[in-house]
Amino acid sequence: MLKNKSIVSIDDVSESDISEIFSVSDRMLNALEAGKKLEMLDGKIMATLFYEPSTRTRLSFESSMHRLGGSVVSVSDVKSSSVAKGETLADTIRMAESYSDVIVIRHPLEGAARLASKFSTKPVINAGDGSGQHPTQTLLDLYTMRKYFGKIDGLRIAMVGDLRYGRTVHSLLLALSNFDVEVTLISPQILKMPEHIRERLGKNIKVKSRENLDEKMDEFDVFYVTRIQKERFTDQNEYNSVIGLYSIDVSTVGKMKKNAIIMHPLPRVDEIKPEVDYLPNAAYFKQAYYGVPVRMALLSMILGA
Ligand code: NCD
Repeated sequence: MLKNKSIVSIDDVSESDISEIFSVSDRMLNALEAGKKLEMLDGKIMATLFYEPSTRTRLSFESSMHRLGGSVVSVSDVKSSSVAKGETLADTIRMAESYSDVIVIRHPLEGAARLASKFSTKPVINAGDGSGQHPTQTLLDLYTMRKYFGKIDGLRIAMVGDLRYGRTVHSLLLALSNFDVEVTLISPQILKMPEHIRERLGKNIKVKSRENLDEKMDEFDVFYVTRIQKERFTDQNEYNSVIGLYSIDVSTVGKMKKNAIIMHPLPRVDEIKPEVDYLPNAAYFKQAYYGVPVRMALLSMILGA
């Protein structure tokens, strides 16, 4: 049951919540595609506080709230808010909770959403905390896999790129560890999946790791490609050593299984060439599209009657 609950980490969502989210998302998707007007969150207000850049997450959260008949208040640029005057996160959250029914926050510091949830009596949703987690992205990632393959169990998944700083892959790997899947972590040494995530994996998952993308590519059903998180590097030389390391073009896709899909939380920089967009394997735009029904499902389950 997600009613009135904060979603800070993917652990806040149980296996039965995930199946409920999937079925509510299916209903939301049908309503969206039928152009049906929904009013279930009429009178409810969502506050969005984004302390870091965002396109998809913020637009899809706001669009979802509007699609459910609710409304949105938002600090569009924290530099224009009282944060610029030195207001603490705690005080900003106290204000946001008194003006809204749910708070969606993105912040550059790991743990910021957890802290925000401690200062708020209203539910807080983590839309990305530094290199921590991005649980709602994970839900739409899982939903996308299920839409393409009918189920998640049995999938062989490659996670490619920046597994150290990428928050989407942290929450995704934790969530996948409750499914019967095989995950291969493909990254350079310096961008490996953190040990503190690997230590927390459930028992169903099989995990391997390697550095090279270009071998046995026909084993995978899903390639989950990520951007090198330039903004999180403290050492520019380290960043320079990994730029352009993995790049997927039409010839790379030729080495994959015919029905393999390529996912990416977006934004991409140069890790997937635009020529790939036209192939049936490119699932990343559809994945971003599913952000709306999945976030509609979440908001309706958290705030609904
Ligand atoms: C991701 C993020 O912010 O973590 N973007 C997103 O929310 N879809 C991925 C990224 O920035 O690379």
